[in-house]
Amino acid sequence: MISLIAVEDIEEGTSKGIDIDNFYLFAVKKDDEIHLYWNRCPHLGTPLEWQEDKFLDADGALIQCSTHGALFKIEDGHCLVGPCKGKNLQKVPFVIDNGMVMVEEAQLVPPPQY
Ligand code: FES
Repeated sequence: MISLIAVEDIEEGTSKGIDIDNFYLFAVKKDDEIHLYWNRCPHLGTPLEWQEDKFLDADGALIQCSTHGALFKIEDGHCLVGPCKGKNLQKVPFVIDNGMVMVEEAQLVPPPQY
């Protein structure tokens, strides 16, 4: 298992970029739940954030791609608005152990280029 980030290092209602061996992921904490995704927009495959650790829209309700503004649900990564409407961000399965977000190395297979 690979340890990515401490749960308490992600503030409620915010996001964090994670770089692990040049794999780029991000985590969002909402309603005390962690959501973990590949940092890759299903539109053009670009990273999503507009500034370091900034993956959410202005009111923190949705994940927003900084390139063309696509909006995604935090809970399941489904794109509601934008050029990739109907597609999904790809989740990364994880467990929480001792307050750390952990992933199986075998799960760190990046999604195909969109
Ligand atoms: S690259 Fe994300 S909306 Fe176009």
